[in-house]
Amino acid sequence: MNDEVVRVEELTKDFGALRALDRLSLTIPRGTIYGLVGPNGSGKSTLIKILTGLLRPTSGQATLFGQTAGTISIRRRIGYMPQLEGLYLDLTVEENLQFFASVYGLKGADQRVRTEEALSLVELTARRGSKGEELSGGLRQRLSLACALLHRPELLLLDEPTVGVDPELRQTFWEAFTRMAGEGTTLIISTHYLEEASRCRRLAMLRDGQLLVEESPARILESTGEASLEEAFLRLGKEGRRVGLA
Ligand SMILES: Nc1ncnc2c1ncn2[C@@H]1O[C@H](COP(=O)(O)OP(=O)(O)O)[C@@H](O)[C@H]1O
Ligand SMILES: [Mg+2]
Repeated sequence: MNDEVVRVEELTKDFGALRALDRLSLTIPRGTIYGLVGPNGSGKSTLIKILTGLLRPTSGQATLFGQTAGTISIRRRIGYMPQLEGLYLDLTVEENLQFFASVYGLKGADQRVRTEEALSLVELTARRGSKGEELSGGLRQRLSLACALLHRPELLLLDEPTVGVDPELRQTFWEAFTRMAGEGTTLIISTHYLEEASRCRRLAMLRDGQLLVEESPARILESTGEASLEEAFLRLGKEGRRVGLA
């Protein structure tokens, strides 16, 4: 049985003269919550977009479920929440969900049940009739998450999913993420919140498109000798690859 959901090998992405990803390699097993951390511009969103198939690599490989990223047959197995929400602002909350349901081929009772589940998870049931444009940033973020997980994908790619989400709901999101991972869903989550990073099974820290470290949060603390992830990342940022990680 192959438990590997994502494999990235020597992945490089150039935008003109700018190298956004630089020979990145990593693998992610099924059921993992995998965190992407790193400063703005370090390549987190670029990596996620290549995995969704929205961007093509300049060189190297990205495979999901053993198939090249972007292959049509794996599209329904993936859910994607973009950093800037991909909603239709002139549609209501419910119409946005219906749109994504139809894209993913959900019909009838299945569609109704999952729509209610998703609305309830993000606490938008009472706002189902509101148009996207009437929602605050935080509410749009919640709707965007609901659209990404509506079809119960095996792999969820969440690009800074909790920005603008209040701490209580962030807690609810994380309970859902943990439950989904327990059921075998693989989640890749980019975040600036170190409290979230500490809840990931593994963390990849990027800088200038390179992997500075890829380890469990506990191992990162252990090998840097720091008391918090914040301090560990500051140290790794300064010392780069010289920190003695195996
Ligand atoms: N479509 C694009 N065209 C040109 N440069 C881009 C494009 N997308 C991202 N970049 C650049 O690539 C680098 C990595 O960006 P990004 O992946 O968005 O980083 P992060 O998500 O970690 O903040 C940045 O320098 C950014 O300006
Ligand atoms: Mg980004």
